Amino acid sequence: MGNVFYGRSLTVIEDFSIEERRYFFKKVHELKSAVLAGDEKTLDRFRINDPDFGIYEVFLEDSTRTKESFRNAAKFHHAKVSELLCSSSSINKGESYADTFNMLSGYSNTIFIVRSKVEGLCRYLDEESRAYTQRNGLPVKPAFINAGDGKHEHPTQELLDEYTFLEDNNMDFSSLHVALVGDLYHGRTVHSKADGLKVFDNVRVDLIAPPELSMPDSYVEKMKENGFTVRSFSSIEEYLSSGDIADKWYFTRPQLERMGERILQKQAELRASITFRQEFMPRLKEGTKFYHPLPRHKEHPTIPTFLDNTPLNAWERQAINGMYCRIILLSLIAGRIGEDYDGPVRKPDESLTGEEYIVEVDLTGRKADEKVKNYSEGVHPIDNGIVIDHICKGENPSQIRAHMRLISSVLGIDEGRGGEWISRGADGNYKGIIFRPGDYELSRKDLKRLAAIAPHCTLNIIKNGKVMAKFRTHMPPRIYNFDDLCCTNEACISHPSQGESVPSMFIRTSDGHYACAYCGKFHSYKEIWKSRG
Ligand code: NCD
Repeated sequence: MGNVFYGRSLTVIEDFSIEERRYFFKKVHELKSAVLAGDEKTLDRFRINDPDFGIYEVFLEDSTRTKESFRNAAKFHHAKVSELLCSSSSINKGESYADTFNMLSGYSNTIFIVRSKVEGLCRYLDEESRAYTQRNGLPVKPAFINAGDGKHEHPTQELLDEYTFLEDNNMDFSSLHVALVGDLYHGRTVHSKADGLKVFDNVRVDLIAPPELSMPDSYVEKMKENGFTVRSFSSIEEYLSSGDIADKWYFTRPQLERMGERILQKQAELRASITFRQEFMPRLKEGTKFYHPLPRHKEHPTIPTFLDNTPLNAWERQAINGMYCRIILLSLIAGRIGEDYDGPVRKPDESLTGEEYIVEVDLTGRKADEKVKNYSEGVHPIDNGIVIDHICKGENPSQIRAHMRLISSVLGIDEGRGGEWISRGADGNYKGIIFRPGDYELSRKDLKRLAAIAPHCTLNIIKNGKVMAKFRTHMPPRIYNFDDLCCTNEACISHPSQGESVPSMFIRTSDGHYACAYCGKFHSYKEIWKSRG
């Protein structure tokens, strides 16, 4: 099967399958044992050992641990390590990310480690570099490692967090009970846990944060879909009173730099609810460990420094593990190790092809002269035209009306004759109907657009008073390739305010939302269109 890790990007934790991650942890364990035993021969088996292998760090946001552990990991490999000095790069002259990174990959750089405020940047660069590599006949397409993108994900931190949990579980994947404490709203390390913790079989997650800093719903939903048992508490105090306490506590720092004025004003109060205190000590479970991605705030650490010299301290070992995990990640992506892996490989878009979401209804057997009697309510029967029926069935009339306006606008049929109608069925449910008399020729792309803006509808095409064709629409697995789509997250690489001209793409989630393919933000199918005045 070859080396499945070779050249792969890690843009979100799900880019590696669960089995691939378990294999990764096994390798980290081997490496760490060899380091501790001073076993140079084993260590050499992990080494890239190529002074021309280019590893490039691009940190557009501050970092100590991630940047330095990657730099030292790259040095372990005897590879070429470079760093873009962002404060003096042409990004400040308005150069696009695509141009910047493509250029650097042209200078024999194979792995990029990227930290940025822009969410989904690595996913975009990974796509963008494919064409550049081909155009310029480069020998390899570069890989991109997300070293933290805004509030979105931090997959390499996730790997080292999980590895440290595993060490404390004697490398046993069968169960995990963890409390996530702190700024769960802004913290990307805890967001990566929604998919990351799937490597464990039975997962219980306790979320401890005041409402202002609570975990966004989409991540809570994802955790539940992934089969985790999730509970929420607004303070450590409240959590301890629940009586059922985790043996692993993962603290995070209030991310003041990402907060608005309103929350900042309350920072002392918020901090108090997520800061550990001496008086809590007797209420901890035996064998409890504390973890933290770090940094801690020097004046207001959520894990106070008096705990440093106690058995609770796992956060220091966690940070040290960061370098071992990053050595293994580079080794895998460079194809130095990984040949012996034979488990499932993560193929991101596998489930999304071949699904039919525009289904033509078979009209044979219907009476040849069947009129469009259903559509004559309130308007004249239509001789030629289109009727879109069953719009927003079950919603209230004003929601249906608003959505019919959006449908007309998105389909470009708001200038035509005809009208909109709301009817109420025998079951008491309202539904919307759009009538458009006239000559309409709908292409396959128009039908795709219709399914995207009006799923669960029927489209009737009427010619000479007869329904000539009827289609039922379902939620498309992916919505893309329309230039009026827009992710609502301003920090997303695909948002127009980023000025990078990245076309939007949305992927249906198992609970019927559309996640942005770049930043992962959940939307309803109504929310993904550029606002129309
Ligand atoms: C975290 C980050 O940057 O997301 N730090 C890290 O990578 N070790 C957490 C933080 O900044 O609080």
